[in-house]
Amino acid sequence: MNKYEQICQELKAQPKTWLITGVAGFIGSNLLEALLKLDQRVVGLDNFATGYQKNLEEVKLLVSSKQWQAFTFVEGDIRDVNTCSQVCDGVDYVLHQAALGSVPRSLADPITSNAANVTGFLNMLEAAKQANVASFTYAASSSTYGDHPALPKVEENIGSPLSPYAVTKYVNELYSNVYARAYDFNCIGLRYFNVFGRRQDPDGAYAAVIPKWTAAMIKGDTVFINGDGETSRDFCYIDNTVQMNILAATAPAEAKNAVYNVALGDRTTLNELYASIKHALLDNSVQIATEPEYRDFRAGDVRHSQADVSKAKSALGYDPSHRIQQGILEAMPWYLAHSG
Ligand SMILES: NC(=O)c1ccc[n+]([C@@H]2O[C@H](COP(=O)([O-])OP(=O)(O)OC[C@H]3O[C@@H](n4cnc5c(N)ncnc54)[C@H](O)[C@@H]3O)[C@@H](O)[C@H]2O)c1
Repeated sequence: MNKYEQICQELKAQPKTWLITGVAGFIGSNLLEALLKLDQRVVGLDNFATGYQKNLEEVKLLVSSKQWQAFTFVEGDIRDVNTCSQVCDGVDYVLHQAALGSVPRSLADPITSNAANVTGFLNMLEAAKQANVASFTYAASSSTYGDHPALPKVEENIGSPLSPYAVTKYVNELYSNVYARAYDFNCIGLRYFNVFGRRQDPDGAYAAVIPKWTAAMIKGDTVFINGDGETSRDFCYIDNTVQMNILAATAPAEAKNAVYNVALGDRTTLNELYASIKHALLDNSVQIATEPEYRDFRAGDVRHSQADVSKAKSALGYDPSHRIQQGILEAMPWYLAHSG
């Protein structure tokens, strides 16, 4: 039995109360599903800025009615301090996911991204500290590596941020570090690297690459590749991300007050990704006849991204369950059921 299986067993035997902010979003709703299936009590907060009621309804169908009754949803905004205090009351573990994602969104409207990602973050951090929660685990980002050229990315070596979004996520780390030192408050940052899987929004200008391309390919629309297709990312399936959140929240004190890469340690180019999605669609009897079109590189994007996940493995017992192709194959029925 690995560390994660062991912790899941312990949580089932002794349920805790969790707060998930951004619970109606992609990662938040997957955390909700996993925790309810472990018979945990969950409070969820979301203002539906980019999340959906339908994500919560989908989770409701995937858990028992008893498990669903252990969930309390609060519609509200992390920019409001009173809301943050209200949802932290009586909570053991906070999983703070609420933020405005996307590098291009932050370049188009840095002020709104800052309000949610910096002011909202600090509101939540302070509320969680005041409520004396056992730990505060938050969504950091691989964008914090910025222009640092080294590969693979090791937690200690970061460069300058390349977008307002990256600045906001780095500020989260700085505040957490101060809260850890000044108040002895338990924070763990999870630097997510391109998470993908069921319930990731395929629509809108700021959709992530895997759901966006998959939806376009299913519809027979053209897929646009920014740059020459040799840009690479370390794509991380949602189940690995859920595992890291649960491991981080329940980690021993010596593993807290740190940041961890959440990825696989693999590097996949956009050209390889296109081929993988095409292959998974073929596996589901969907033939793709069209070829992708190449266009300009996107502003603010880093060229290559690949994580070193040895710190997460040694300090938290991280044992990723899915590599990229397995994840794409597992998520494909969901994309097919939700396309069009
Ligand atoms: N998906 C990725 O690959 C990735 C990579 C790095 C970091 N992250 C971070 O992970 C977290 C979750 O991302 P996601 O992919 O699930 O995105 P998402 O947009 O699906 O989820 C974010 C959720 O936060 C909610 N939210 C936004 N602003 C809010 C506010 N002011 N008050 C209350 N709720 C608010 C949204 O409505 C949404 O439900 C974010 O912090 C994001 O920056 C994601």
